[in-house]
Amino acid sequence: MAILGRRIRLRAIERSDIPTFVRWLNDPEVVENLLLYLPISQAQEEQWFENYLKDTDRHIFGIETLDGKLIGNVALESINWKDRCAELGIVIGEKDQWDKGYGTEAVCTLLGFAFREMNLHRVFLHVFDDNVRALRCYEKCGFQHEGRLRQAEFSNGHYRDELLMGILRSEFLESGER
Ligand SMILES: CC(C)(COP(=O)(O)OP(=O)(O)OC[C@H]1O[C@@H](n2cnc3c(N)ncnc32)[C@H](O)[C@@H]1OP(=O)(O)O)[C@@H](O)C(=O)NCCC(=O)NCCS
Repeated sequence: MAILGRRIRLRAIERSDIPTFVRWLNDPEVVENLLLYLPISQAQEEQWFENYLKDTDRHIFGIETLDGKLIGNVALESINWKDRCAELGIVIGEKDQWDKGYGTEAVCTLLGFAFREMNLHRVFLHVFDDNVRALRCYEKCGFQHEGRLRQAEFSNGHYRDELLMGILRSEFLESGER
């Protein structure tokens, strides 16, 4: 079973995907805008995967093109079942697939699932204010700017601001679901 978009599908992640994740997460260009800053080993990623299997407050999906190529992951984390909100995270690990609209489609497809199937009320995310590609992607999906966390992260010798963005179920559904 998979969650279908137009050009991608979201599927469960598998233990056999771990070497691909390790490759992505050791690529400096891919992790530049993530919170990761240490090299990651296969063993660490295997441990992360085992922990994920026991975690009911997190759903992570592999992003696959319709011809079956795994290009990234998209996730709903810290799912709050009472207030019905969750934090979205995404990485397109295959850099040659950036700027082709796959990130936008994966986020919109996951939002449709979050609001129509999981009955969530709000999805939010954090993004560095200089990650223009991600900002554009989230704005295209209908995320609103909600705030700025000043100097929230230190990397490459300086502090960076983090932006908080969010989208409500009503806003997503009223937009015609993009
Ligand atoms: C961020 C990410 C998910 C976006 O996915 P993507 O498939 O590359 O993005 P899309 O093609 O859907 O949209 C990117 C948009 O940014 C625009 N863009 C790219 N570089 C840009 C730049 N330097 N300035 C302005 N806009 C830019 C693209 O033109 C496109 O907008 P358009 O469709 O209006 O032309 C993906 O690039 C990624 O995983 N990057 C590394 C990890 C990361 O940053 N994750 C997010 C952490 S918050």
